[in-house]
Amino acid sequence: MPRKDRSASILIIGAGLAGLFLALKLAPRRCVVLSQAPLGEASSSAWAQGGLAAALAPGDEPKLHAQDTIAAGAGLVDPAVASLIAREGPDRVRDLIALGVPFDRTSDGALAQSLEAAHSRPRVVRVSGDLAGKAIMDALIAATRAAEHIDIIEHKRARALLRDANGRVCGALCDDEETYPASEVILATGGVGGLYAVTTNPIEAQGQGFAMAARAGALIADAEFVQFHPTAIDIGRDPAPLATEALRGEGAHIINANGDSFVSDLAPRDVVARAIHLERQAGRGTFLDARKAVGAKFPAHFPTVFAACMSAGLDPRETPIPIAPAAHYHMGGVATDIWGRSSVEGLWAVGECTSTGAHGANRLASNSLLEAVVFAHRIAARLRDDAAHLPLPPEPTAAPPTLADGPRAELRRLMEADANVVRDGAGLKRALAHVHALGESHGQANALVASELILSAALARTESRGAHFRSDYPDVATPQRTFVTWRGVSSTADVAAAS
Ligand code: SIN
Repeated sequence: MPRKDRSASILIIGAGLAGLFLALKLAPRRCVVLSQAPLGEASSSAWAQGGLAAALAPGDEPKLHAQDTIAAGAGLVDPAVASLIAREGPDRVRDLIALGVPFDRTSDGALAQSLEAAHSRPRVVRVSGDLAGKAIMDALIAATRAAEHIDIIEHKRARALLRDANGRVCGALCDDEETYPASEVILATGGVGGLYAVTTNPIEAQGQGFAMAARAGALIADAEFVQFHPTAIDIGRDPAPLATEALRGEGAHIINANGDSFVSDLAPRDVVARAIHLERQAGRGTFLDARKAVGAKFPAHFPTVFAACMSAGLDPRETPIPIAPAAHYHMGGVATDIWGRSSVEGLWAVGECTSTGAHGANRLASNSLLEAVVFAHRIAARLRDDAAHLPLPPEPTAAPPTLADGPRAELRRLMEADANVVRDGAGLKRALAHVHALGESHGQANALVASELILSAALARTESRGAHFRSDYPDVATPQRTFVTWRGVSSTADVAAAS
């Protein structure tokens, strides 16, 4: 597409599953996709091991999937959104199959379904065991590269959203000060795991989209809810490789160094993560024992986990895998309605950078890829046939600084220390003061805005619920989602009113 056409285009910031699926679904509307790395790199989607949850098996129903989603979310899932993703999921799996994703099949040709924690039945479609994310991204990348309506720009990182004199979002400002005007802007920037010293996410996932939206005045919901995956492989790597929950679905057990079991293997993720955290603090060590359940099938059934273990000289067929919780998924983010609209005109969001109400305080396993494709489809349905809204000139905007390696490492250490699986008011206040000091010394980088939003929301939630556990407030209070703006920056509309 010639450069001059871009201003009437839709701008998608982020090129993981949510961004690319949306770009494809927008055809024939022209769109520009900004990717901070070559397609498929620096994207959590490509690393997803488990797969995509959808009620496709005989005897399963969207109603049952929605019930499990609501139960895992510890009182904060919006039931209408849970029903919506469960209902629309099977069609989106069929879309992915049509794009060439080779989901695993049973011997009679049906889709194979695996069991993950807190699902009442096997319901997760996978590819070659633990390669779903990579296979899905490979298919989407091939399709987007071939699509004429999509203009992919790699190595381009957005730093700020542009707004016109009416406050409508009208484009983005990138690293090299280049501006991208657009009729509509959609954030698909992923999560926040890279703000933590121990994470399963690419380090680049530092809440950029969520921070840019907050700076533009968007409502942010439930920022305190960061999900820690209980079974990251503890071999000193950064990021930490994952040992998928599907291993426990196959019968692997969590044990301590004495070989004793201390938690129910398929309990909700927050429960398992906390139990492992406490066991480690007590010095008893934590391991995933898949010797009997998987054993010789490891190389063929879980090739990614097997390769990660073997690269550290650890054969999971013979030795239990050392495990630790790691920051994995952000349930909070840009508040959107059921069509992916944020509270700011012209700004939409999809995937992990959002808070749609689907995940509540604790996401059900393999519901993240599901939510991404369902909402990408819905946003495309709203925008596909709209006349392009020609953007007005943007108001002057300065790009925020980026954090140098030193302060970034300091930020990751402090989030790890004080905003982890178990938090308390003193630690959260200490971390918040530290983040403010980093901002004064190094400028208000997006990573600092994202951290501030997480820490202040965690401080404000004086209860324990789902992934947010306060040792100083261990009980639950009345279930309530929180909607905030960053430092009182106001938004142009109310997200609930827009649905
Ligand atoms: C896993 O495979 O355990 C992760 C899946 C997910 O985060 O939903």
